[in-house]
Amino acid sequence: MLDIIQAKNYEDMSEKACEIMVDRLNALINPILGFATGSTPEGVYKQLIEKNKEKAISFQNVMSFNLDEYVGLKKDDPNSYYHFMFQKLFKHIDILTDWIHIPNGVAPDLEKECDEYEQLIRDHPIDFQILGLGVNGHIGFNEPNTSFSSRTHIVELDESTRQANARFFTSMNEVPTKAITMGIQTIMESKELMLLASGSHKADAVAKLINGEISESFPASALKNHQKVTVIADEAALAKA
Ligand code: GLP
Repeated sequence: MLDIIQAKNYEDMSEKACEIMVDRLNALINPILGFATGSTPEGVYKQLIEKNKEKAISFQNVMSFNLDEYVGLKKDDPNSYYHFMFQKLFKHIDILTDWIHIPNGVAPDLEKECDEYEQLIRDHPIDFQILGLGVNGHIGFNEPNTSFSSRTHIVELDESTRQANARFFTSMNEVPTKAITMGIQTIMESKELMLLASGSHKADAVAKLINGEISESFPASALKNHQKVTVIADEAALAKA
């Protein structure tokens, strides 16, 4: 079941998402949060930084897990998700660096990295996971036709995903072809999920999520099997639903 909240625009979506997060952060004693990258959650992160500065929330007891990371990009690469998370959120809040987890895209043994990451999440189940939505319905980097029973694994990125993310790189050749991502089953084991979508380019994907059937050809549709998932989408993203 999807609980759908309509927002006016990006700003409003970010505010509504932040409100929910502030509520959960204050309710949980040792929150374990799942973070996402991409343009969509940036507004929420900005607001969380403000709330943290105002001392309305604290991240001192928060442990975090990120959804995914590109294979081949080092932590200090400006396009790595590690870099993104520190620039957009972590360096501005009072979270303990030791409790931040992001897959290592340059681990010498990537399979081992995936297994260890999955085990860490099993040992520290995620309370609240933020998700964006790919134009092809991907969540994390789980591309269409990924098994719903998948766990943290290495993926070959879809051409459409590489193109969608090419705007951050100087040329298409530089866009990685692989990534490490939590699997769909890993994501589904979060106790609560919140998916955000903004803009007309997400309208087809949002309509398919809301009205389409549950199918591995559209990864986000798995969320309909989850007990507690909120979708916050703005008017433009909901235009075709
Ligand atoms: C990226 C990320 C996803 C993200 C999605 C949408 O490829 N791996 O986690 O949710 O695509 O990105 P954006 O929010 O920039 O539209």
